Amino acid sequence: MTDIAEAAFKKPITVALTGASGAQYGLRLIDVLVAAGHEVWIMISKAAHLVIATETDVELPAQPQRLVEALSQRSGAQPGQIRCFGREDWMAPVASGSGAPSAMVVCPCSTGTLSAVATGASNNLIERAADVAIKERRTLVLVPRESPFSPIHLEHMLALSRLGVVILPAAPGFYHRPQSIDDLIDFIVARILNQLGIEHTLVPRWGEVGDAAAVKDD
Ligand SMILES: Cc1cc2nc3c(=O)[nH]c(=O)nc-3n(C[C@H](O)[C@H](O)[C@H](O)COP(=O)(O)O)c2cc1C
Repeated sequence: MTDIAEAAFKKPITVALTGASGAQYGLRLIDVLVAAGHEVWIMISKAAHLVIATETDVELPAQPQRLVEALSQRSGAQPGQIRCFGREDWMAPVASGSGAPSAMVVCPCSTGTLSAVATGASNNLIERAADVAIKERRTLVLVPRESPFSPIHLEHMLALSRLGVVILPAAPGFYHRPQSIDDLIDFIVARILNQLGIEHTLVPRWGEVGDAAAVKDD
């Protein structure tokens, strides 16, 4: 039964939401990944829950199984498509190189989590999963949001970038003439999907403005 359920979805992507502003980027990313047919493994930090409650009307329980139900209902996920892990769920697959999926996104990424990932702190499951992604040379995308960045933040980002981690700041462009907040959110989510190699039609690629439906792979 488990094998059949797992085979029903595209490769799992880990998405962690931490306590930086921009919760909507992470929530939209989950929705898009679900719609694209991926299995999505989710971790939401305590601070991220507070930010979600502050910035959106989305109500999410903290307990992982109830969180699965709430997120699945929100995004229209099929049974088994979303899995959620708690802060100290060290038995979760993301805690080990043998179980972790090929790609992880921390969106939004607080400067606190950025710092912990840069130093390998691994004090909670989000930090540990990112540490595993780095040691296993897997795709890791961090979406920091802070303004201005301090030298501490910048040094951490440079160190991580040199390790192959993608630093993708939550800084949407305006050259596609966004008409709404949703357009700005999709700009960042599209950039993340590009890093994951997932096709999308969220925003036109450069050189294709004016033909929003035409989004190529290359
Ligand atoms: C409403 C709200 C907005 C916040 N915005 C940011 C932010 O934009 N960037 C940031 O790095 N931290 C921000 N913080 C602070 C982090 O949530 C805080 O440093 C927290 O310890 C991060 O924990 P985490 O990395 O485990 O999620 C914000 C906190 C709140 C409550």
